[in-house]
Amino acid sequence: MSLRGKRILLGVCGSIAAYKSAILLRLLKKEEADVRVIITPSASDFIGPLTLATLSGHPVDSSFVKNERGEWTNHVELGLWADIMLVAPLSAHTLSKMAHGTADNLLVATYLSARCPVMVAPAMDLDMYAHSTTQRNLQLLRETGNLIIDAEVGALASGLSGQGRMAEPENIVERIQRYFETEKDLKGRTIVITAGPTFEALDPVRFIGNHSSGKMGFALAEACAERGGQVKLISGPVSLENPHHPLIETYRVQTAEEMYALANELFQHADAGIMAAAVADYRPASMAVEKIKKKPGEWNLILQATPDIAASLGKLKKTGQVLIGFALETENSAANAKEKMHRKGFDFIVLNNLKDEGAGFGVDTNKVSIIEKDASETLPLLSKKEVARIIVDKLHEYLS
Ligand code: PMT
Repeated sequence: MSLRGKRILLGVCGSIAAYKSAILLRLLKKEEADVRVIITPSASDFIGPLTLATLSGHPVDSSFVKNERGEWTNHVELGLWADIMLVAPLSAHTLSKMAHGTADNLLVATYLSARCPVMVAPAMDLDMYAHSTTQRNLQLLRETGNLIIDAEVGALASGLSGQGRMAEPENIVERIQRYFETEKDLKGRTIVITAGPTFEALDPVRFIGNHSSGKMGFALAEACAERGGQVKLISGPVSLENPHHPLIETYRVQTAEEMYALANELFQHADAGIMAAAVADYRPASMAVEKIKKKPGEWNLILQATPDIAASLGKLKKTGQVLIGFALETENSAANAKEKMHRKGFDFIVLNNLKDEGAGFGVDTNKVSIIEKDASETLPLLSKKEVARIIVDKLHEYLS
């Protein structure tokens, strides 16, 4: 997609990745975007303003005061001018200022006065990136509606290797293009999403559960909300915080039975359902009121099947509604997934295999195949957020 006419305010911070902002700027100009650049004082140690000014066709702004005659750079005007503000690279220092509202340089003051969406692409060494303070600051930015382009994994300037590299300029441009392309295309749509495990109690202490963290389902909720969709997120017991997006309403449940009741109720008024939860297929036939005492010998449990939420929604589904399932497999993956898709009434199914490294429970990545009635596509290992965006692209195709 061309970015013709789109006004992009590029903020550059002091980081070795600042050299990549020249490449990023060139790519944005190639897509015909109008780009203005603000640099922090330390960014100029890494890249000369002359390079950025020449590439953008505008003078580069770096301080509030332009000259000794008292001319100044109007950060409010800059913030209002932009259709999107992109900070790339974002250093740990500027991240902290943005998260806490410090306005001691032109870039952060402009951030505070901008009304447009703000995207950031962090770049730092792996330990700085993984530090709980950095992650908390990123979470604060996320919670206030900013879009984070996760740092990528690879070789770092320190000589170490890990997550911390600024996303490649091509990937950042693609993300911006997708933002403009998909902006609010789910507006007016309601999507019910199940996420996480269910816990089926044996007694007040023990339960049958599984390792689902909820990350896949929460990423789907965020991807739908980013595009304007109203999300009803039904989550089993997970340690993730409720998403803070105003379009996501989170419901917490414990058991398959509770998830079943809520999903059936909410799906009736929804346009789509995405079944990402790892629902327990069996539960204890009865729950002991008091803690079951340890006894010598074996303990035989009697289990009974839980209701199948997805199959029930598949039966309820009316014309125009879209239902997406997941299949978590360890063998005969594609055949099992297709069988589930037909039996449960899914429009398409997302297959992940626990035997693939980096896929399935708990991790931030997933490796999936999207299987439709007459086509299928296998994706490489991607972050769950990226997988979610691709699934939501497909959902949008089906809805329209
Ligand atoms: O939460 P994470 O740690 O991020 O991990 C993500 C995930 C691995 C849980 C997710 O990607 C995933 O695969 N979710 C589905 C897991 C699963 O239970 O798959 P299944 O093949 O057993 O079930 C098939 C489909 O039926 C699923 O859409 C499931 O949600 C649904 N189902 C199953 C049983 C049941 N009683 N009710 C259901 O709705």
